[in-house]
Amino acid sequence: MVERNQILCMSNYKIDLSKYENKLGRKHQVVRMLWTIVWTLGASWLPRSLGSGWKRCLLRLFGAKIAGTAHVYSSAKVYYPANLTMMEHSCLASDVDCYNVAPIIVGANSTVSQGAYLCTASHDITDPLNPLITAPIIIEDQAWIGAKAFVGMGVTIGQGAVVGATASVYKDVAPWTVVGGNPAKFIKERKINGERMSGK
Ligand SMILES: CC(C)(COP(=O)(O)OP(=O)(O)OC[C@H]1O[C@@H](n2cnc3c(N)ncnc32)[C@H](O)[C@@H]1OP(=O)(O)O)[C@@H](O)C(=O)NCCC(=O)NCCS
Repeated sequence: MVERNQILCMSNYKIDLSKYENKLGRKHQVVRMLWTIVWTLGASWLPRSLGSGWKRCLLRLFGAKIAGTAHVYSSAKVYYPANLTMMEHSCLASDVDCYNVAPIIVGANSTVSQGAYLCTASHDITDPLNPLITAPIIIEDQAWIGAKAFVGMGVTIGQGAVVGATASVYKDVAPWTVVGGNPAKFIKERKINGERMSGK
């Protein structure tokens, strides 16, 4: 039971989520519900990389723009397909959580490894209603997001960059660099066959 002094305390609260508004709207919710049913019944149970063409079809049906050579593993979660663009030979591996409230673009020959979380949304913590805020994530060509990495809203992962396993990225990552840790920091330049790639 709520005590009187608890109620008095509540009147002092600066954060009031009783007035929180879901800005995404009813249509968005319905599409997401249908999408969850379609993916759960039609794809989530398939062996991880089997039925790629079929999975691309389902994603396209809900508005995703996916190249014919891109792969989405069965246990990957795509929140809203219409906000997903995947270029040639890109991949979302097992258990990737693609929380694309805002658009996510995965560039050509880029891989997002197991369990990574791509998070395009947050809340404005300076506003008493904590409204939803969103911004796109762009993963440029030839990049690699390591297992269980977190990539936050508004981040661009530069061409050829590598985000190490479990890294948490809140700022843009420069092309052809390797970053790791939380918050992710520069580790080294990425070289291919010993050759520097930045500035090319
Ligand atoms: C980032 C990565 C590619 C770097 O590999 P590498 O070029 O062989 O680098 P090294 O192992 O020589 O490490 C270089 C330095 O970075 C550090 N480092 C490496 N990976 C790191 C990570 N994920 N987070 C933080 N620091 C990391 C190392 O400890 C080392 O530090 P030191 O110079 O102080 O000793 C690799 O460590 C990684 O995270 N791979 C992802 C694995 C993965 O996700 N697999 C799943 C799909 S197959």
